[in-house]
Amino acid sequence: MPITYHEISALRAVLRPYRSQQRIALVPTMGNLHKGHIALVELAKRHADIVVVSLFVNPTQFGIGEDFESYPRTLIKDTELLAAVGADYIFAPNVDEMYPVLPPPTSINAGAITTKLCGKSRPTHFDGVGIVVSKLFNIIQPDVAVFGQKDYQQLTIIKQLVRDLSYPIEIIAAPIVRAADGLALSSRNQYLTEDERQIAPVLQQELQRLGAQLQSSDGIAKGLETLLAQTSQRLTDAGFVVDYLALKSMSLEDIADDQLYLLARDNHDVIIAAAAWLGRARLLDNYPLTLTL
Ligand code: PAF
Repeated sequence: MPITYHEISALRAVLRPYRSQQRIALVPTMGNLHKGHIALVELAKRHADIVVVSLFVNPTQFGIGEDFESYPRTLIKDTELLAAVGADYIFAPNVDEMYPVLPPPTSINAGAITTKLCGKSRPTHFDGVGIVVSKLFNIIQPDVAVFGQKDYQQLTIIKQLVRDLSYPIEIIAAPIVRAADGLALSSRNQYLTEDERQIAPVLQQELQRLGAQLQSSDGIAKGLETLLAQTSQRLTDAGFVVDYLALKSMSLEDIADDQLYLLARDNHDVIIAAAAWLGRARLLDNYPLTLTL
């Protein structure tokens, strides 16, 4: 059974003796764990001796009117799942412990990347992720930390944070875990009604279809802007409200214009990234591919 700590000082004290001999992994989460999180813990166990999972619904990454209050908090069930997968420690601080002053006057801003994609509709989100992840890195001082590829922009920002702030931490990217019908697992999927849940896999299907089109001579003839617009329209027709749909380089630089799209077609690794509302749920997904045509 993992031991749960709510206080920073207690967790630091228990981790201190391990530091010289053993590798510590951090899996940061907001709790309400599903199979996607469990896969992160399994990956962490392969890279470290001691696995710490943080469960903290971080207020600073939620915007006004977002679901901070209603975000599901399920500590008992999460603890059972973490016991089953063999996590060693749980860090579940309350808001006062993490933020003696809220909002904190200190900020971590990762620059231009935070204004793109999700940052357009959630302008303060990545500052909140930046500060909480920095705090978790400083509290736990892990050797490795595992983040999911579903939140691809977040993963890119964390890698940048580690580079720019010289954290001695290896960042491990975990593949997206999907339901049998292709829907990427997410705590927010539970906001979907039964009907919406049937529609939800269409998001990944459309990203894959767009990927295939980008690789075809038909697609090249149509041009990127047309293909993006057609995909957006199909998602809208299926019932989604598209927040964004974009083709980016893997470093998330813009290549969203036809000329660059053509220039990129030489074994170039790109990612199709999308966020779309379906009822109350904002679904996030992506589809990486190598343009080879
Ligand atoms: O990906 C998440 O669940 C959160 O953004 C994270 C990294 C745990 C920070 O609160």
